[in-house]
Amino acid sequence: MKTRLIAPSLLSADFGNLQRDIDMLNHSQADWLHVDVMDGRFVPNISFGFPVMKTVKEHSTKFIDVHLMIVEPEKYVEEFIDLGADLVSVHYEASVHLHRTINLIQQKGAKAGVVLNPSSPVLLLEDIIAEVDLVLLMSVNPGFGGQKFIENTYKKIAETKDLILSNNSTALIEVDGGVNLDNASKLFAAGADVLVAGNAVFSSDNPEKIIELLKF
Ligand code: DX5
Ligand code: ZN
Repeated sequence: MKTRLIAPSLLSADFGNLQRDIDMLNHSQADWLHVDVMDGRFVPNISFGFPVMKTVKEHSTKFIDVHLMIVEPEKYVEEFIDLGADLVSVHYEASVHLHRTINLIQQKGAKAGVVLNPSSPVLLLEDIIAEVDLVLLMSVNPGFGGQKFIENTYKKIAETKDLILSNNSTALIEVDGGVNLDNASKLFAAGADVLVAGNAVFSSDNPEKIIELLKF
C-alpha cells in the first residue's frame, strides 16, 4: 500500500501556546510531528533546541521526526534521541562522516534520515542509500517556513525513487518546504511518502481540516 504520511512542522506553531498546538495535532490525522532545529550557522536562522524538544515529547502522542539544520550534528543526535526523537535526519551538507553518524543514530535505537538541500544532487546518496531509513528532500532552502516550493523537487523525487529501487533500499522519501493543498497529491503521486507542512497547516483557521485534506 502507498504510504501517505503528513508531518506538520512545529516551526509555524504558536510558541506561546505550544501545548495547545501539540494537543491539536494529537487529535488530528497528522502521522508525524516534524521538529525543525536550527543553529544560526548551518542555516541563517535559530529556532529551538533541547528544552522545546523535551516539552514536545512530554505532550505529543505522535511519531517525532527531528530535522537537524545544524553543523556537526553528530555531537547532538544522541541527546535528541534520549529526549524522545523517533527519527533523526541530518544534512548531507553538514555531515563530514555521514556513514558514522547514520550508524550512531540507528545504534541508539532511532530511525536515521539524510537530508539534501535543493542544490545537492541525488547521486550524492549512492553510497549511503542502503543504510538510511529516510531521504528528506528539501523543496525550499532550509531556514524559514512559508517559502515558495521549488519545482525541481519532482525530478529529485523520481531520481531518489530510482536509487532506492536499484539498491533494494527500504528508505522512505520525505519532502519539506512549500507543501500545500495545490501540490500535495502531486507530490504523493510522484513518489513522496511523507510530506512536511508548516505554514499551510498553522496559517489556517482549521488546521485539522488542512491536515486531512493534504492526505488526498
Ligand atoms: C524549513 C523547514 C521546514 C519548514 C516548512 O527550513 O525545514 O520544515 O518548517 O515550512 P513550510 O511548510 O511553511 O514551507
Ligand atoms: Zn524541516
